[in-house]
Amino acid sequence: MTTPVLPPWRPLIKAAQRREGRSPSARWLQLATVGQNGHPRVRTLVFRAWTDANQLELFTDTRSQKIKDLDYQPAVEICWLFTKAREQYRFGGVANVINSDNNREVCLQKWLGLSPSGRSVWGWPSPGEVLNRHAAFPEVLSDDEPMPDHFSVLRIEIDHVERLHLGPHPHHRTRWQRNQNWRTEELNP
Ligand SMILES: Cc1cc2nc3c(=O)[nH]c(=O)nc-3n(C[C@H](O)[C@H](O)[C@H](O)COP(=O)(O)O)c2cc1C
Repeated sequence: MTTPVLPPWRPLIKAAQRREGRSPSARWLQLATVGQNGHPRVRTLVFRAWTDANQLELFTDTRSQKIKDLDYQPAVEICWLFTKAREQYRFGGVANVINSDNNREVCLQKWLGLSPSGRSVWGWPSPGEVLNRHAAFPEVLSDDEPMPDHFSVLRIEIDHVERLHLGPHPHHRTRWQRNQNWRTEELNP
């Protein structure tokens, strides 16, 4: 397999990530979807990996509202703030939902790569439903536990990126679009 040529914004993100150090919050980003009622919804997810030059991977639960939103409208926006670097990235793209029905192998591989405590939330009752205080909320799911069918992987195919850097005066705002071959465009901040 040949190494994909990275778009120009990827090394910038790598440098920003490096500045954040080992802080867990360096991997927290916000994913916005649009619901069937036309209303936007945004929530925090953990960045898991780059799976291609312009493809980012997240893990989620097929029982959650965001999956219903994505069934209706797969276009998403992601906002990722790097506080130490004082840089905001916005990614526009399309989400592909990989689940145990359409690609059990990929799900299983990702599932086994998680720590037992990292897996635990997928052992909890359906997210967003009314709390049942008697339901089980395990703190770990060991390697022996079967992968829950609702574990799923989101792959976001990114088609445009905007960066805002608050470091210099005036601030730098840059845009890259896939259909422009990721040409760098400087914008007013
Ligand atoms: C720091 C942090 C990290 C989170 N990481 C994830 C994650 O990786 N995947 C996920 O599905 N939800 C994650 N959540 C929970 C989501 O923000 C959200 O509450 C949940 O996915 C339900 O969202 P929905 O009802 O909009 O679908 C995280 C929340 C926080 C505060």
